[in-house]
Amino acid sequence: MSGAVLAQSDPGPRGGAASAGGPAAGLGSDYTSLFNSSRQRFQEIDSVSGAIAGENGVGLGPTFNANSCVSCHAQPAAGGSSPHPTLGQVRKSNPQVAFATLDRLSGRSQTVPSFITAAGPVREARFIANPDGSADGGVHALYTIAGRIDAPSCTAAQPDFATQLANGNVIFRIPTPTFGLGLIENVPDDALRANLAATASARAALGIGGRFNSSGNDGTITRFGWKAQNKSLLLFAGEAYNVEQGVTNEIFGNERGLTGTTGCALNPTPEDNSNVRLSTGSFTGSLSAMSSDLVNFAFFMRLSAPPAPTTVTASEQNGRAVFASIGCNLCHSTTLQTGASPYPGQSNAVIHPYSDVGLHHMSAGLADFVSQGSAGPDEFRTAPLWGVGQRIFFLHDGRSGPANGGLVHAIRQHKSFSLDLLCLLGGSVGSDGVSCSSEANAVVDNYSALSATQKQDLLNFLRSL
Ligand code: HEC
Ligand code: HEC
Repeated sequence: MSGAVLAQSDPGPRGGAASAGGPAAGLGSDYTSLFNSSRQRFQEIDSVSGAIAGENGVGLGPTFNANSCVSCHAQPAAGGSSPHPTLGQVRKSNPQVAFATLDRLSGRSQTVPSFITAAGPVREARFIANPDGSADGGVHALYTIAGRIDAPSCTAAQPDFATQLANGNVIFRIPTPTFGLGLIENVPDDALRANLAATASARAALGIGGRFNSSGNDGTITRFGWKAQNKSLLLFAGEAYNVEQGVTNEIFGNERGLTGTTGCALNPTPEDNSNVRLSTGSFTGSLSAMSSDLVNFAFFMRLSAPPAPTTVTASEQNGRAVFASIGCNLCHSTTLQTGASPYPGQSNAVIHPYSDVGLHHMSAGLADFVSQGSAGPDEFRTAPLWGVGQRIFFLHDGRSGPANGGLVHAIRQHKSFSLDLLCLLGGSVGSDGVSCSSEANAVVDNYSALSATQKQDLLNFLRSL
């Protein structure tokens, strides 16, 4: 090697207008107006009573991570992922810092957990195990409503994150963007299976497996969330509304986090409801006005346009070829096709999510030791890369971002081995259920062998998505 090798670098989030956030093309006026009003619901801010000015959604808490869907799904537009104070289109600090003091009685502030910072990603925390050692895996919300002006009687204590962190019992998840997800929702199971089958031998040659998570309720392929643990947009919205904001609803109707507390159950449940009175007698309300927040959230996501790529320069086009030639596309599938759809423009649509929606073993480096459905401790859904060009933070816990090289760091994190004894003895799975090597190891080696120019082309291509 002679001379200095040019270091390739992540160009950072693409500037200009947001390439996502609007309605899908061709929806027609009725569906477009439903999209627009459902987007307002997605941005609604909740308080406990709904009586605080500017916070008229009802039902926050007793435990919560944020007070609106858009707190977390913000960048580059409502529906996206974590914002950042100085980068991207939205430019705002992590809103989770302020919830420690927002609407609190004097002297009743809560503590900002150490893993929540103004310039860091929005996060939710899961605990790996319960105190008795059995598996937990559930979300433990950052804050409670105790000490808020609209819940003075509530006694629910904040979890002791410092102790749980010291015990290595906490893992994080960052928000995944929701743009274009109606299209992913409507890819038939058989089309996903055929997509995986088509690359079986190419994957096997590189040590890449792949399988689907499925619903314990109806046995079909589940697609949403970092472990593809969730079935549908309506179901995810219902879970998020209760888990992230504490708002009970028609899918998840019981409050979480009440055990051992008093004075925290302050509203009749479910707090979010279909607006029956608007629909009795002669029909007067719009579908949006009649529907629960939940149905609105699902329509906002289902009718949103997928992120629009801007791949145009010679470098970006070369990067697209590199992406395929080194095998990134063997997990990040370039093209899928939806089935027939009742929504205008969404039938048999050819889409480019850059995901097979399948699960892959990523080994010790990324393992979070949480199992969801059939996804085990080191299995993750291939993260869809559409829209990645305007994202700030990457990987399930947000470990890659502006502070450490962004996309370059995220790619390198795909490679790891487990040092578990069973692995050192030549096995393929460790005693902790983690695969001895990541399915992406050979592809990351291919990446490492690229010239600096080819690596830069690949990064420029990713930032055009
Ligand atoms: C406190 C931050 C936060 C709030 C508030 C929040 N989310 Fe999320 N969202 C997340 C996180 C974190 C994930 C990834 C969860 C996982 O997979 O474990 C996620 C994932 C999702 C997904 C899955 C998308 C995909 O393809 O993976 C959907 C859908 C979603 N959220 C909808 C909503 C809706 C609707 C609301 C409002 C009711 C909402 N979220 C509020 C943090 C949040
Ligand atoms: C074996 C399958 C596999 C291969 C091969 C693979 N990826 Fe991934 N990729 C994943 C999975 C799974 C995740 C999510 C992992 C996590 O969050 O822990 C991911 C996440 C990412 C992310 C972060 C996206 C986000 O939403 O945060 C980027 C960027 C990425 N991959 C790019 C690449 C590139 C570029 C290549 C080729 C060099 C590649 N990947 C090869 C499976 C793969």
